[in-house]
Amino acid sequence: MSDLRSRFEGGTDPDMQRFSSSLPEDLRFWREDIAGSKIHARGLADAGLLTEDEARKILEGLDRVAEQLETGTFIPSAEDFDDIHMAVEARLTELIGPLGGKLHTARSRNDQVALDLRLWLKQQLTALGDEIAAVIDALIERIEAEGQILMPGYTHLQRGQPILLGHHLLAHAWPLARDRRRVAEALDALDLCPLGAGALAGSPHGVDRRVSAERGGFKAPVPNAMDAVAARDHVQQTVAACAVLMAHLSRIAAEMVLWSSAEFAFLRLGDAYTTGSSIMPQKRNPDAAELIRGKAARVFGDLQSLLTLTHGLPLSYFRDLQEDRHALFDALDTTRQCVRIMEGMWRSSRFVADRFTDELRGDFSLATELADYLVTRGVPFREAHGCVARLVKDLETRGLDLSALDPARGREYHPALGEDLSEWLDPRAAAERRHHLGGTAWSQVLDQVAQLREQLA
Ligand code: ARG
Repeated sequence: MSDLRSRFEGGTDPDMQRFSSSLPEDLRFWREDIAGSKIHARGLADAGLLTEDEARKILEGLDRVAEQLETGTFIPSAEDFDDIHMAVEARLTELIGPLGGKLHTARSRNDQVALDLRLWLKQQLTALGDEIAAVIDALIERIEAEGQILMPGYTHLQRGQPILLGHHLLAHAWPLARDRRRVAEALDALDLCPLGAGALAGSPHGVDRRVSAERGGFKAPVPNAMDAVAARDHVQQTVAACAVLMAHLSRIAAEMVLWSSAEFAFLRLGDAYTTGSSIMPQKRNPDAAELIRGKAARVFGDLQSLLTLTHGLPLSYFRDLQEDRHALFDALDTTRQCVRIMEGMWRSSRFVADRFTDELRGDFSLATELADYLVTRGVPFREAHGCVARLVKDLETRGLDLSALDPARGREYHPALGEDLSEWLDPRAAAERRHHLGGTAWSQVLDQVAQLREQLA
């Protein structure tokens, strides 16, 4: 039971107590809370507010509280405590006596919770960054193994031009590489220590905030005490990074759903990431991908909650801020889970190598290539485009496709369509001709893979 009620008559209403307590959420960062208290105790000793002996007793006491939380000997509840900070202080005082009451000198739960969140976020974001790197690595594995497979490149889900699978998968890998950087930037932005801010004004006790920041592994203290307790933009930035990442994962997931359908029949998902139907025995449902797409919606909602939480909120600390954990935990848990599942899906999926090879000769995805052929013979592109459009229309009406185009027929449309036409109209040759920076040629795919690998190293 917290003893913050001396100025009140009696205890809080039990329903109010549960309503008000953040303990069920805070328990998640009890380790950070104790680590923060240990840093603070050392700061108090440096400032002469604790003797060396008192500091040692407090530090040992905090280790015992940690041990009890770890082993479940101490299971604080929302009925008894407002938050993890009160729970730890109460147990410490039970263990070492009234000396435990000295620990809260020069601090407030407002800077404590701010510190706990930042310490916890640093670990989470480091782990998330590594998990994103693992998805990129899984994509690279597929690119190196199967990246030379030819496929149609799409716009509007209409066949556009032949490309290499590696080119397509890289277009998913690069956004993930940027996500990884966004996560690192979020981590860098929150790497400041709020400790010593007190409730909002600082304290008169001369605890050196720079030393506390250093002990906590932070770059520096948060410069302004009021900002230190009121700011949650680092929580928002974290979840914003998660939201953009989830938007990317949902696009990848959507293609996995399409590609694994019988209509595309391009991707075989691994059994371990595929589910069956309760009625249709033949099914291989891409539920993992569908769930990733669906869970993106949740993370977007979490970001919305967090933005609304601080919108219009005057300075400095308000209890509103305690609601941050629900959205933050949900967003990080969901995102990290999706990232890990996405990695597993890629490691266990295989492509169907010759799925499109014949079709790409027969369909019209080489139409641009034909126009480009004319351009190399000095025909203005706009004229070439018009000529090929008429040719496509004619062939289509006659139930034919580009594979039926021989030089004799070609010259009906343009005198410049010559003997080397069929050689030119080869999908792989078309892809390989685009060997400039960022083009779909295999040399470029390999070059980008090398760039990504360097980023991951
Ligand atoms: N439990 C609060 C939180 O999680 C910290 C306590 C601050 N409470 C207060 N009345 N100032 O944000």
